[in-house]
Amino acid sequence: MTIPQTMKAVVQLHDGYSGTATGPTLDDAAPFLELREIPVPQPAEGQVLIKVAMASVNPSDIHFIKGEYGQPRVKGAPAGFEGCGTVVAGKGAYAESLVGQRVAFVATHSGAWAEYALTDASACIPVRPDLRDEDAAAQIVNPLTAMAMFDIVREDGAESFVFTAAGSQLGKLAIGLGRDHGIPAIATVRREAQAEALRALGAAEVLVTTAPDFHERFAAVAAARKPRILLDAVGDQNSADMFFAMRSGARWITYGKLSSEAPRLTQMGQFIFMNKRIEGFWLTRWMQSTPMEQRIKVVQEVQERFATGKWRTDVSARLPLDQVVEGLAEALRRPDGKVMITP
Ligand SMILES: NC(=O)c1ccc[n+]([C@@H]2O[C@H](COP(=O)([O-])OP(=O)(O)OC[C@H]3O[C@@H](n4cnc5c(N)ncnc54)[C@H](OP(=O)(O)O)[C@@H]3O)[C@@H](O)[C@H]2O)c1
Repeated sequence: MTIPQTMKAVVQLHDGYSGTATGPTLDDAAPFLELREIPVPQPAEGQVLIKVAMASVNPSDIHFIKGEYGQPRVKGAPAGFEGCGTVVAGKGAYAESLVGQRVAFVATHSGAWAEYALTDASACIPVRPDLRDEDAAAQIVNPLTAMAMFDIVREDGAESFVFTAAGSQLGKLAIGLGRDHGIPAIATVRREAQAEALRALGAAEVLVTTAPDFHERFAAVAAARKPRILLDAVGDQNSADMFFAMRSGARWITYGKLSSEAPRLTQMGQFIFMNKRIEGFWLTRWMQSTPMEQRIKVVQEVQERFATGKWRTDVSARLPLDQVVEGLAEALRRPDGKVMITP
């Protein structure tokens, strides 16, 4: 296949960090991104060039382009962490062996919101032919996080766990795991409209954080079901209040910051007398610390779940590359699914 000299890409307009903490919302992408024609990147040793078929938009992408994520932006480099496509070139034995292979990938060197992405061969996962592009393009960030965090739930031994922002793609995956393993989720959402769908997916309880009696209802559910793990991507005062309403030994595992509110820790004594803990989870660290054989097993299970319909990536909008800058903010306002970018 002939690889062109240049490609269309949605590139970042800023370097480094912004110092703000406004959360993964976007009024307008134009201050952060621009569509450009740029040279197709060349693989160095251990890297592959991927012809992108589809790229997903995750909250981490929005944190990142705004300069609020855990790694610095690079001005002029394409945005987009995750996608799927076909490897068209590689350098080094393993990278070359992937040429022609359809892969899910995390873009480590040149982002996925482009016609071609550049990444480490080790950041690619060969994809089963029976998986849809929609599931392949969103196969790493959320599914691996769901599997890894659900292991924490299983090891805890309790009969339920609490999951906030449960209408998120990650929430739906975690609820499905809870259903299949007999440890059903206590889900919280901010919109009542999401509740029924989450019950249908297998959540034991769905509580609406904006309801006037939310705190009383949560206290009753926590007393009855005795969860010890709070998997939380919101990080607001409701999250803190739920944590303090949970039993001894409760762990608040924070893995996202959807709210820009700074919660107050109102009951410090619980850390001393009730052995409570606040922890963080980041998939990047899990990838680095988990042995290869275990990661392979997890990936196989992820693909099996998508192939058999136990999991499904919901898509709320599709944007061609040349409409991303103008259309991304509006597309992100459509609820209950991922925005997918196609070249
Ligand atoms: N630490 C890690 O390694 C890791 C890995 C993967 C994902 N994550 C995090 O996981 C979270 C979910 O990701 P996703 O891709 O599944 O999200 P998603 O599908 O884009 O969904 C986002 C959800 O969050 C809800 N939400 C947004 N702002 C909120 C707020 N202030 N209060 C309550 N709910 C709010 C939205 O509710 P509405 O529909 O009401 O707007 C929506 O249901 C994100 O924070 C992401 O950064 C972290």
